[in-house]
Amino acid sequence: MSSVTEPFADNHHDGVAADQLVDEERKNFLLILAAFRLYKTTSMISVDQREMYMNSLSKNHQYLLSKYRESLHKIRDAILTNYQVINVMVKTIDQLFLNDNESTYRDNNGEFGVKVGQNEIERVQVTLKQIARDWSADGEMERQQCYQPIIDEVTRLFPPNDTDVENVRILVPGAGLGRLMYELSYIGYFCEGNEFSLFMLIASNFILNRCLIENEYKLYPYVHQYVNNLNRGDQTRAITFPDVSPTQRPPKKGTMNMVAGDFLEIYKEADYWDCVATCFFIDCANNIVDFIETIYNILKPNGVWVNLGPLLYHYSDVMGEHSIEPTFEDICHIMKQVGFVIEKCATGVRTLYSQNPKSMHKSEYESVFFTCRKSAQKSECNGNSNKQMNGHTK
Ligand SMILES: C[S@@+](CC[C@H](N)C(=O)[O-])C[C@H]1O[C@@H](n2cnc3c(N)ncnc32)[C@H](O)[C@@H]1O
Repeated sequence: MSSVTEPFADNHHDGVAADQLVDEERKNFLLILAAFRLYKTTSMISVDQREMYMNSLSKNHQYLLSKYRESLHKIRDAILTNYQVINVMVKTIDQLFLNDNESTYRDNNGEFGVKVGQNEIERVQVTLKQIARDWSADGEMERQQCYQPIIDEVTRLFPPNDTDVENVRILVPGAGLGRLMYELSYIGYFCEGNEFSLFMLIASNFILNRCLIENEYKLYPYVHQYVNNLNRGDQTRAITFPDVSPTQRPPKKGTMNMVAGDFLEIYKEADYWDCVATCFFIDCANNIVDFIETIYNILKPNGVWVNLGPLLYHYSDVMGEHSIEPTFEDICHIMKQVGFVIEKCATGVRTLYSQNPKSMHKSEYESVFFTCRKSAQKSECNGNSNKQMNGHTK
């Protein structure tokens, strides 16, 4: 039903460069696999550290903290449950990438031979929270805030009752765990998601293709949040997923497909898509103009771009990455220059992103929502087709 194209395969490069690219991709894959596999060890270390500190306290303080100590036991149990789910999830990668299996990536000692850093450890934890956002009852409110306005707009623009929906091609770049893509294809559209994070691709492959029963799996997505908990049980609150099983409730006529790789590298065919739907995506670029131009180029004349999200600019504070951070006002100006006609625009759209509903601290975005149309008249500004881009999956 849903397929993931190979992130390692690259037909655009040849010879030594292609070998290097494949090598880099394999190293990246290895790193992420190791991060998933080391989840239990790395997560337990932070519990151990707390327990060791507790043990160093006076007997009286230890007595006063006995309930807290009990909760550390529950945290360990929750980590073990998460680890079991991660193991099942990681098993499904065997068919994902070039038909390799995990043993291909282990050395003679059974080790992965890569150094997993704090960044990768945190991204495993983020993946767990992303599962709650996209595929659990807990994420329902976020999905209503973030995906429903996009779905409503797409169905307004391409009404399912009056349109041959299977022939409406919708692309969702930065698809994350694929819920928006799934919902659009469930309505009947031809919908393709695109994603370059292997954390997301491994988890979405598992949910979209391997989860057979609704709410079959239990996870503790907030177990790594040690702060801002009101009640002892909040950190070890479980969710079940998937709230809907895409294999049990597949799109009846729509097509669903997840394509792995960098949006800027993959999507070069001009005038192909009827609609591009982006949610919390456009601020993931080093240079947002590249995204705007690419979206313009790949849309058919009169095609529409529907977007919702903030301008967090993910690379803004990342060491070694370039970043520019145009305001929304700048972006509107750029979109018009490129050739878009802005048909709808709202600011201050209140949206949460992967927030723990029970936490004493939540951050909320006042997102922008817009619909713009590629003017039927071809613009000169669709010129990134010759550009060399770096990096595939991340
Ligand atoms: C903030 S997340 C949003 C995910 C999802 N749309 C949601 O609303 O939950 C942005 C996603 O875009 C992906 N992404 C960022 N840049 C990308 C690129 N150039 N090509 C493909 N995916 C990209 C990231 O890996 C990440 O999963």
